[in-house]
Amino acid sequence: MKIVVIGGTGLIGSRLVNQLRERGHEAVAAAPNTGVNTVSGEGLAEALKGASAVVDVSNSPSWEDAAVLKFFESSTRNLLTYEAAAGVGHHVALSVVGTQRLSASGYFRAKIAQEKLIKESSIPYSIVQATQFFEFLKGLADISLVGDKVHLPPVLFQPMAADDVATLVGSIAIGSPANGTVEIGGPEQFRIDELVQRRLAHLGDPRQVIADPNALYSGAKISERTLLPGNDARLGETHFETWVNQPTGQIRNAKSQPAA
Ligand SMILES: NC(=O)c1ccc[n+]([C@@H]2O[C@H](COP(=O)([O-])OP(=O)(O)OC[C@H]3O[C@@H](n4cnc5c(N)ncnc54)[C@H](OP(=O)(O)O)[C@@H]3O)[C@@H](O)[C@H]2O)c1
Repeated sequence: MKIVVIGGTGLIGSRLVNQLRERGHEAVAAAPNTGVNTVSGEGLAEALKGASAVVDVSNSPSWEDAAVLKFFESSTRNLLTYEAAAGVGHHVALSVVGTQRLSASGYFRAKIAQEKLIKESSIPYSIVQATQFFEFLKGLADISLVGDKVHLPPVLFQPMAADDVATLVGSIAIGSPANGTVEIGGPEQFRIDELVQRRLAHLGDPRQVIADPNALYSGAKISERTLLPGNDARLGETHFETWVNQPTGQIRNAKSQPAA
């Protein structure tokens, strides 16, 4: 199958492209530095020629409220238009578990808008909602800084390794469209403040994490179970303890932005 991976040079995208190629598929990494820009439309028609599926694992370069909304709306509109013209039969997009419960956050309003455009389009689709990536734990600390301390609500989450995200998204991409949402998550639950503190300690990062019931998550107030997937979620295999003890060179942190 020819599968175009939008954001194919990113944290998830680069893993997905490699895994699809290992499975014998023709995976095309599409991103601005490979000549494909979903916001301007540059290179899209050419990249999508003959593609059976498009997997969108791109992310906005800016997480400022208006910029991120503009990115996901224009990028998704362009993608769906070019996919219809090219006869693409499956649009797969990576979103986040709990997105609909996080509308107080500008970032998540943009993900809600992305999902809505996909659901309203004529292209068969699968929306894959993943839990937080282990690679994002440091980024989570960066966007949750108040002064020199990290303020996070003491709530549950079920994070997962980027490799497992890529594996699960890849198997959904080569299957039939769900025409709905599929949740994926990690094998264990943690308290978010405790795991971020463990990750920082492992990195030798001296920042202290404060369990603050009033702290916001990406700008939204959340409760104990807001970030947890449902019982039907497909689970990755990698445990945090295994992931964090890999040789450091194998771990690539997710990009983060200053205070969202
Ligand atoms: N972080 C988490 O814990 C988490 C959890 C669940 C779901 N997600 C979702 O996972 C997705 C991927 O995240 P990630 O961390 O893998 O992202 P990432 O590493 O930041 O990669 C983003 C990718 O998007 C590409 N891109 C940026 N602007 C583009 C444009 N105009 N046209 C085409 N491609 C463009 C980038 O290309 P360049 O490198 O050339 O700029 C890069 O390949 C996001 O949609 C996010 O919402 C994240």
